[in-house]
Amino acid sequence: MTRSAMNQVRPLHDLHPSPSDMLAEVIDGLSSHPRTLPCKYFYDARGSALFDQICELEEYYPTRTELSILKQHAAEISQTIGPSALVIEPGSGNSRKVRLLLDALESPAGYVPLDISGEHLVEAADKLARDYTDLPIWPVCADFNQSIAVPKEASDAGQRLLFFPGSTIGNFGEQDRQALLERFAQLCRPGGGQLLIGIDLIKDTKRLEQAYDDKRGVTAAFNRNLLTHINRALDANFAVDQFTHRALFNRDHARIEMHLVSEIDQTVDIRGQHFAFKAGETIQTENSYKFSVESFAENASHAGWQFERSWSDPENLFSLMLFSVERPQNS
Ligand code: AVJ
Repeated sequence: MTRSAMNQVRPLHDLHPSPSDMLAEVIDGLSSHPRTLPCKYFYDARGSALFDQICELEEYYPTRTELSILKQHAAEISQTIGPSALVIEPGSGNSRKVRLLLDALESPAGYVPLDISGEHLVEAADKLARDYTDLPIWPVCADFNQSIAVPKEASDAGQRLLFFPGSTIGNFGEQDRQALLERFAQLCRPGGGQLLIGIDLIKDTKRLEQAYDDKRGVTAAFNRNLLTHINRALDANFAVDQFTHRALFNRDHARIEMHLVSEIDQTVDIRGQHFAFKAGETIQTENSYKFSVESFAENASHAGWQFERSWSDPENLFSLMLFSVERPQNS
């Protein structure tokens, strides 16, 4: 690695996110009616690899559509955002998508990738730094559901632009979504700022359900891997192959629901607790909310975000929406 790349990535700013209590959350979810499991536990090493495969699937349109929108409308998006933005990305992961945004923007002031996994974060930042050699990078290790902060030095660098792609917002139920959008707005309040967010649009049921139940069974494997992960992490004994994947679009709630259905009567033991399943009983493992441009703009407005513009693909599958908050008047 070159010297400049090393200097460009600032030391990791660690907010020490408190580790989550997996056992308590799993017991809690399995004890509720209907039973649920937290979707964040999809992403062990195998789950993350399977998710990468999902993004490449023919049926799973969101990833490639969002990227095509970014490419197609790069000039307009960049113009609407303006020069010298400080790009902040909560849940930045491998920092791959942000490249298209950085390429489009006029002299971005810096990049703040924020992720819960400090190790991957620094790796991803170093990798990005090699290709964006003039871009200051301030990695922040944090759980964006707990706290978000921008290092002091970064905070003076430019107008804040929050980048939240991938329809990640779709995993949040109404209340958590509102809270998160408010926290994002709060983060921009000091000097005003913007939010560029990817949302998956409501569409016909078949198209939606196929995106979450692909022919090759990758999404099914992704869903069931949640049980494999729990078996390993908590010494549980789910009979993983006795659960089947089910994905359905619940139009009343405008969300895809993923479930695991027990094929047989069975009892699962987790650290001394027993959970009896009847054949046909389900565990709900994920909600993925869909929106219209109007319904999401309405949502965001309640959190203080003013709708600026949106860009979609010709088929109206997905949308990138831009919002702003102003600097408070008397400060
Ligand atoms: C990562 C939450 C955006 O909801 O589309 C993909 C996760 N689950 N296939 C989504 C997911 C099954 C994905 N998000």
